[in-house]
Amino acid sequence: MSQISLNVNGKLVSGSVEPRTHLADFLREGRDLTGTHLGCEHGVCGACTILVDGVPVRSCITYAIACDGAEIVTIEGLDDDEITRELREAFKREHALQCGYCTPGMLVSARDLVVRALDADEHDIRVAMSGNLCRCTGYVGIIKAIKSVIAARRARDIEAIAGGGRTVVGPAGSGHASAEPADVSPRRAAPAPPLQSASTRKSRLSVDPTWIPQVSFDQNFVVNYPRHQVWEMFGRVREVAACLPGASLIGEPTPEHVEGQIRVKVGPIAAEFRGQAEIERDESSYSGKITGAGNAIRSNSATRGVIGYRLLPARDGKSTEVAVTIGYTLTGMLAQFGRPSIVQDVAARLTVAFAQNLEARLGGKATADLSSGGGGLDAGSLIFSVVAGRLKKLFTRLFGSRS
Ligand code: FES
Ligand code: FES
Repeated sequence: MSQISLNVNGKLVSGSVEPRTHLADFLREGRDLTGTHLGCEHGVCGACTILVDGVPVRSCITYAIACDGAEIVTIEGLDDDEITRELREAFKREHALQCGYCTPGMLVSARDLVVRALDADEHDIRVAMSGNLCRCTGYVGIIKAIKSVIAARRARDIEAIAGGGRTVVGPAGSGHASAEPADVSPRRAAPAPPLQSASTRKSRLSVDPTWIPQVSFDQNFVVNYPRHQVWEMFGRVREVAACLPGASLIGEPTPEHVEGQIRVKVGPIAAEFRGQAEIERDESSYSGKITGAGNAIRSNSATRGVIGYRLLPARDGKSTEVAVTIGYTLTGMLAQFGRPSIVQDVAARLTVAFAQNLEARLGGKATADLSSGGGGLDAGSLIFSVVAGRLKKLFTRLFGSRS
């Protein structure tokens, strides 16, 4: 066994491997990166295609030990990548997948092609994608999807990068190739431009206007203070964050931008989402919007969400009804716990805690320790109370109220 260290999706990963361990097994087993699929394990089908040092490679025929020190990007690492997002949307629109088994490898190869293809020539796309096999959908939708993304990007004056921007030669995964300019043939799989690592990402969130949340729902609550007082409080970012169970801020927020983290615990899984959000407020309608995105690196999960709210006068203006619309997309390991009904129930209980803390703050009282960010949010216990609440309702329905 030999010890290797790789940078996988922006994170340092080390492990022991046998000389025969291939890269796909190294990533899938024990690292939960199961988005890399194995079809033939002979280098034929392309299902296992990932990026190694920016170059698409077949991870089933690449020895892990040969990649010591290399930079690996799997399909999971392309969640927030602009080109891959456009491809995902196009694949959906053009019905370019059926069982989806070939899709991760298709997307990695297609992304590389989108970067370097001069134009959306169908013949060239077919040739370039000939190393990726699909056993069920067929290729018409796949080619149409890739073609549409290339055409749309060129129409937006995003130029092709010759050879995919490769500047070094050497075997993929060596990580120590000589700095000679590459002689990359037009037919050769060339690399994508460097993906933004966490440290090089723009400090500001780039809000994608076309993003649609997977799940949306509404929550309402009433605060026993007049609307203008609640509106002013909503403008004080630090105080609002202190009312949110498990949340804490990173750095000093501005009225338009905030960075922070939220700790959640779902059963045995504890996750800490770090992210940033843009804040919009419209005083004329007493409404606002918070658009954010974050990652939980340890659990390979990511979320993106938008919260819209509107303050309405209630009880003759003595109270305020807060109408909230929440939309989110959750990907990665934690997504399996994110079934909409559970998330909505948890959100309902969070909303109650938030409203109580808000009212306490408005009344000049300290919020409960729960909201300070110290202990974090134990969604497990919330889910337990959700389940208990559901059982109670069921028993009440079956046997009637005993009180
Ligand atoms: Fe690697 Fe088929 S599984 S090419
Ligand atoms: Fe099933 Fe391609 S969609 S193998």
